[in-house]
Amino acid sequence: MKILLLGKNGQVGWELQRSLAPLGEVLALDRHSLEFCGDLSQAERLAQTVRDFRPDVVVNAAAHTAVDKAESEPELARMLNATAPGALARAAAEVGAWFVHYSTDYVFNGEGDQAWQEGDATGPLSVYGQTKLEGEQAIAASGCRHLIFRTSWVYAARGGNFAKTMLRLAGERERLTVIDDQHGAPTGADVIADVTAHALRCVLHKPELGGLYHLVASGETTWHGYASHVIAQARQRHPALDLKVTEIAPVPTTAFPTAAQRPLNSRLNTSKLQQAFGLVLPPWQHGVNRMLTEIL
Ligand SMILES: NC(=O)c1ccc[n+]([C@@H]2O[C@H](COP(=O)([O-])OP(=O)(O)OC[C@H]3O[C@@H](n4cnc5c(N)ncnc54)[C@H](OP(=O)(O)O)[C@@H]3O)[C@@H](O)[C@H]2O)c1
Repeated sequence: MKILLLGKNGQVGWELQRSLAPLGEVLALDRHSLEFCGDLSQAERLAQTVRDFRPDVVVNAAAHTAVDKAESEPELARMLNATAPGALARAAAEVGAWFVHYSTDYVFNGEGDQAWQEGDATGPLSVYGQTKLEGEQAIAASGCRHLIFRTSWVYAARGGNFAKTMLRLAGERERLTVIDDQHGAPTGADVIADVTAHALRCVLHKPELGGLYHLVASGETTWHGYASHVIAQARQRHPALDLKVTEIAPVPTTAFPTAAQRPLNSRLNTSKLQQAFGLVLPPWQHGVNRMLTEIL
């Protein structure tokens, strides 16, 4: 099997290089790749990559993920998050390939306190959320066989992440203020990549399982709960660690004004995915603890 992977160096893309490897020959590209174009700002050349390589599966882990920056560069965000995925999906349909793509909790308006289901009405609050939604719609309209996974609050041990930032600040300050009115589940890039590989194997034999799925770790927390967990774990594992913080104060989202509005309710219901593919999504703390073991 031939797999074309785009965005190979992102959080999810990096883990996909690992999880997809046992499934076949993986051509992994980033925006700088030379022989084949992997640049999402060049939709037509990307489509040509699909026609030339003729993969059985295209996995797109690349995106415009700078949520606040997207507010001031909507054309670029739309190109990367909607136009390019649409072109890739149409090219995948042409060559008969499956198309795997990632979307976000930010397609929802964040109202209420129930976990969102796949069929719930969308209502993005930001350019990022709107363009990611347009990407989903372009893929569905292309007619290609596809899997779209909406995920949230993605972290990886590699590169910067929220936990590393909290640990650094906890070493510098006695008091931290962290948002406690956004609710969701921190989800490891590793579990997203592993579930992708499992689901992909399933749909190759059962194409009727294609479609849109919510993919996040189990349970829920807030950024404040997440930060508190990280700092408590760090103290428990390394009592000698020099953490100055004595107070982690909960504050509302309004305490940290940002260019893009974030949904308050980012809970995603994953029943559809767990039932369709016979998978269990571990509690968010499991993945975060593993990541802490790697970084501390
Ligand atoms: N991160 C989250 O919290 C989150 C939440 C919900 C959904 N998602 C979705 O999950 C997917 C994976 O996200 P992630 O967390 O792995 O994001 P990420 O770490 O920011 O990776 C995104 C990748 O896209 C690449 N990229 C940007 N512009 C490009 C271009 N013009 N051509 C080719 N590649 C380009 C980036 O490359 P450079 O490194 O060269 O810039 C980066 O490697 C995305 O679809 C995202 O929307 C993420």
